Amino acid sequence: LTTPRLILRLAEPDDIPALLRFHAANAAHLAPTSPLRPANFLTEQFWREAVAHDRAAFAQGTSARFALFARHDPGTVIGALNLNNIVRGAAHYGDLGFALGAEYEGQGLMSEAARVAIPFAFSDLRLHRIKACYLPSNLRSARLLRRLGFVIEGYARHYLLIQGRWQDQVLTSLIRQDDESLPPPAAQAGGA
Ligand SMILES: CC(C)(COP(=O)(O)OP(=O)(O)OC[C@H]1O[C@@H](n2cnc3c(N)ncnc32)[C@H](O)[C@@H]1OP(=O)(O)O)[C@@H](O)C(=O)NCCC(=O)NCCS
Repeated sequence: LTTPRLILRLAEPDDIPALLRFHAANAAHLAPTSPLRPANFLTEQFWREAVAHDRAAFAQGTSARFALFARHDPGTVIGALNLNNIVRGAAHYGDLGFALGAEYEGQGLMSEAARVAIPFAFSDLRLHRIKACYLPSNLRSARLLRRLGFVIEGYARHYLLIQGRWQDQVLTSLIRQDDESLPPPAAQAGGA
């Protein structure tokens, strides 16, 4: 996927050095909103497995995890936008997650990325609902989701294990508005 300033795509093995640079540079910036990282997080071996896992999961339709690259500097990873935990059956939803490198915040870049990823999720991935949640203290995330049209649906206590502590999250979602009359997706069989 492309936008005026960004390329969103699955990472490839050749991107591993750029992924390592991004995560090394932003370890402190992303720590407050991330799970504790495994000891080998900043190693090539970890990312080799992660890239292979993400590509297989995309092929199986269970996630779409995009690395974000600046169009003017396509060798540099500037963030990530992920659609995780895609559930079919009667649900057809997925969880949205996102992160920008510290130096790229405040420029509208994640809004720009989300504005192509959301139509992709609703049309190509045929999701009906995109869920997203954030720490109550994460005002940037709250503003971004509100701008994108996400609506608060609840407050989940002890919802995610972030930095080794179960932490509360504000739950939001965006619902596809135009699919009432669509035929059921092919992957309808089974599940709740
Ligand atoms: C959450 C996160 C992605 C939001 O990033 P962001 O840069 O604030 O989001 P956007 O891309 O929507 O940018 C909007 C900001 O850019 C500003 N901006 C500047 N130029 C802009 C432009 N051309 N177009 C739009 N907005 C622009 C907006 O005014 C807005 O700033 P404001 O919120 O202070 O008013 C980022 O803070 C982040 O990665 N945080 C750490 C990880 C994290 O929290 N992840 C989410 C866990 S739930």
